[in-house]
Amino acid sequence: MKTPRSPVVQLHEIHKVYDLGEAQFEALRGISLEILEGEMVALMGPSGSGKTTLMQIIGILDQPSSGRYVLRGQDVTELSENERAEVRNQEIGFVFQAFHLLPRMSVLENVEVPMTYAGFSAAQQRERALGVLSRVGLSGKERNLPSQLSGGQKQRVAIARALAMRPALLLADEPTGNLDSKTSTEIMGLFQELNDEGTTVIIVTHEPDIAEYTERIVRIRDGRLESDQPNPNRKRVTGEVYR
Ligand SMILES: Nc1ncnc2c1ncn2[C@@H]1O[C@H](COP(=O)(O)OP(=O)(O)OP(=O)(O)O)[C@@H](O)[C@H]1O
Ligand SMILES: [Mg+2]
Repeated sequence: MKTPRSPVVQLHEIHKVYDLGEAQFEALRGISLEILEGEMVALMGPSGSGKTTLMQIIGILDQPSSGRYVLRGQDVTELSENERAEVRNQEIGFVFQAFHLLPRMSVLENVEVPMTYAGFSAAQQRERALGVLSRVGLSGKERNLPSQLSGGQKQRVAIARALAMRPALLLADEPTGNLDSKTSTEIMGLFQELNDEGTTVIIVTHEPDIAEYTERIVRIRDGRLESDQPNPNRKRVTGEVYR
């Protein structure tokens, strides 16, 4: 029998109110959600529904106005600023639509950046960076600058950078938003492989085609959970394998 999977993310009645001086805007209106270890989840919803706001809270880049967030058993809403930064660095990897690579640094250096903040020796950084770059199929591109890569390759550098710290949770906000459909499928194939290896993955997307590659689809609307459904007919990317 399979052992039950433990929760990675537990959100209890999360509210987020943005203060606009004169007015306030409630972007999240009581979101409760649990994501289990090893799940691959799509977060969908119309523009302005609160997807990025929710991902920033899950990624500990922002704090909820009220509610409780427990990450791998630890209540992160009760931690100090420094402790939250530490948990973020240790537990969470981020991938963004616009890649967010440092333009003057090589591919290799970009991947090493998060490790420099975590007390790794230069040799350890190098070894891990080469390993994750090979994992995403970029061996041979280590010395390139980001500008010397295709869009899909840039996103793979960003994914390698996120993987370098071996995060428990990989968060991707519209990771295929700047990519053509073939490259998008390849990137989803890479996420599927990483998920097969045990990484918990949450992907924000407004594209139903992309969500089809995940096993569970959560929809939000106007800051509220609209639906949360398994995707039993999950599509698999076959063929393109970087290993
Ligand atoms: N810093 C902010 N200050 C005030 N309002 C904000 C702020 N950030 C987001 N909002 C508002 O909160 C709501 C949710 O925004 P959010 O960026 O989470 O939406 P989204 O679902 O990610 O949309 P998109 O699909 O366009 O990326 C929007 O109405 C937005 O205008
Ligand atoms: Mg967004």
